[in-house]
Amino acid sequence: MNSERVAASVSAREIIQPVLFERFRELIRRTAGIHIASYKNSFLANRLRQRMSFLEIDFFEEYWNYISGEGGKEELQILLELVTTNVTSFFRENNQFEFLLTTVLPEFVNRAEAGGQRRIRVWSTACASGEEPYSIAMTLMEGLPSPQRWDVKILASDISLKMLERAAEGLYTVESVSELSSRRRRFFEESGRMCRITPDIADWVVLKRINLAGGKLPVKAQFDMIFCRNVMIYFDRTTQRRVVEELVSHLKDGGYLFMGHAESLRQHTDLVEFVEPTIYRKRRVRQVNDAA
Ligand SMILES: C[S@@+](CC[C@H](N)C(=O)[O-])C[C@H]1O[C@@H](n2cnc3c(N)ncnc32)[C@H](O)[C@@H]1O
Repeated sequence: MNSERVAASVSAREIIQPVLFERFRELIRRTAGIHIASYKNSFLANRLRQRMSFLEIDFFEEYWNYISGEGGKEELQILLELVTTNVTSFFRENNQFEFLLTTVLPEFVNRAEAGGQRRIRVWSTACASGEEPYSIAMTLMEGLPSPQRWDVKILASDISLKMLERAAEGLYTVESVSELSSRRRRFFEESGRMCRITPDIADWVVLKRINLAGGKLPVKAQFDMIFCRNVMIYFDRTTQRRVVEELVSHLKDGGYLFMGHAESLRQHTDLVEFVEPTIYRKRRVRQVNDAA
């Protein structure tokens, strides 16, 4: 970069020109359903600046041309990763894992003892770096009698390939694992200065890139439980409704939907019924009474 360009390039405080800001907002909304509030110009400007500095691009307009041009598809994926947050942790919102252990799993065990299948299908729809699906797997390991005799699959998806790669590695810091009880620490083994999730847990988890806001979801299975936590907050109302409808269509009757602490489904009680805060159940289809 020559010095004139440096002088003319975007300064650390500069916001994105309003028309261009609208174009970025619309692009992000259209591709990932993510709603960037109109007052978040400097937030977006800061995030773009990090990326532009790496690419040695000086102007927001230039970055717009880059992302809309050839090779833009890959850059779009990177942009989406810049504007979402991937904060997560093991057993985040622990009351849900307690509920899974003490209420949901006994239902499965009772059903199996009454001659039903030993089969559980779970979907962690915005799994970030994997702590959520692995926490589900650990809870199932703890709560199921003879867990290896059960047919368990946990689909773990996210829009971010970077996050999915981290989830696939299954490597976590000693600090994040040391917060777990010793009962749960047995699901990790030392790997250098990190801890790796053990193969019996990892084997239950299947990773796939899925954009929740991409319309019809590319999933065939019907699930007993779906976790959709701390991602709906990024979506506008229309996208939220579409995503809830899609997810519910992939839940078995009576299946559970777990949401994040700030994500109420009050608006969608035609599809799900409230169980306790952040936990919902798909409404059972009413049986038609032939005799009536
Ligand atoms: C804050 S993290 C939540 C992680 C985990 N569910 C939890 O509650 O701890 C939000 C995740 O949503 C993902 N995400 C954002 N938009 C998405 C979309 N349209 N489809 C799928 N995942 C998305 C992000 O990549 C990020 O990993």
